Amino acid sequence: MSQGIDIRDQAHLSGKEVKKLNFIKDSKNLVFRKYYRSGLRSHIFEVLLAADVLKETQGEIIDGIRMFPRARPIKMFRILRNRFKSKEAIFQEIKRYNSLLNFLGPDLIAPSEEFVADYTGTGESQIVLCGLQEYVDGQILDPWRLFGDNYLMDLFQSMLHRQTVAENTKRVENAKKNIISFVKKIRQMISRIGYIPDLAGIGNLILTRAGDLKLVDINNIVKIKLDDTILLDDWGYPSCDVSIEVLSILEHDILQKKSPIENDPLYCFFLSPERRKKVTAIEKNFYANLSSKVLHGSFDIDPF
Ligand SMILES: Nc1ncnc2c1ncn2[C@@H]1O[C@H](COP(=O)(O)OP(=O)(O)O)[C@@H](O)[C@H]1O
Ligand SMILES: [Mg+2]
Repeated sequence: MSQGIDIRDQAHLSGKEVKKLNFIKDSKNLVFRKYYRSGLRSHIFEVLLAADVLKETQGEIIDGIRMFPRARPIKMFRILRNRFKSKEAIFQEIKRYNSLLNFLGPDLIAPSEEFVADYTGTGESQIVLCGLQEYVDGQILDPWRLFGDNYLMDLFQSMLHRQTVAENTKRVENAKKNIISFVKKIRQMISRIGYIPDLAGIGNLILTRAGDLKLVDINNIVKIKLDDTILLDDWGYPSCDVSIEVLSILEHDILQKKSPIENDPLYCFFLSPERRKKVTAIEKNFYANLSSKVLHGSFDIDPF
């Protein structure tokens, strides 16, 4: 680890470096491995059993054939890059996560044990929010790359080559049922407490092989305000507006709900052409600043 540089500012942090952190117990039984997918706001690691990693690399003989089974994470470990001004601010963040969990229920979210760490790597004590989260195995439901009316069917066929159309049709039905329930519960959260989780980032929503839908990005829960100001999150991104756009994509493009967007007061307000124009300009600016950050070496990863 580069001496003195805060882990939250480092583009890369390896699994080996994680083990050296003052708040991690260096157990020989566990391996931390940087996850192949990454986001903007967190460092994500697979937590694996050392014995499983050994089997993955050295193989094991099954029915006379040497196999190399992929080590499946027992948990996902997240270090949030955010800086919190105080312990209270962190507790607020954890409270928001708990109310998201209450609204969605454990079937629609990857539950996480959130914890606060006292990080001393820079020479002084810093508070860092971390999480140990359920691992979700599946395909990203990417709202920005939906091709064709049979999007869900195509997704399952690409995930599960040897399944029959009838089997995949059942999975599509299950996925639709879960997406309906997800949209309904997010809308309840919006109307009851005025908050929405970040649905905009690629990889925030995952569909499992069985057709279960899980929100995995659980830390950027933003306020919704019904006025002309376009609220920005702590990274300067219009998360609230773009997340509402994703909600409408789930309803109208994936579930193919027929009623026009104009009949829906939430979408009518947030997705009006004038407002969308302003949001697009903010997004453009955000990406321009992001690429200058990338050029200066702060980050080299996909947004979100
Ligand atoms: N619990 C999890 N199970 C499986 N994949 C996950 C999990 N948590 C995060 N990921 C994946 O890691 C990537 C980054 O995660 P995300 O939560 O979006 O981080 P960020 O806070 O940086 O946006 C995403 O592609 C996401 O799908
Ligand atoms: Mg994300």
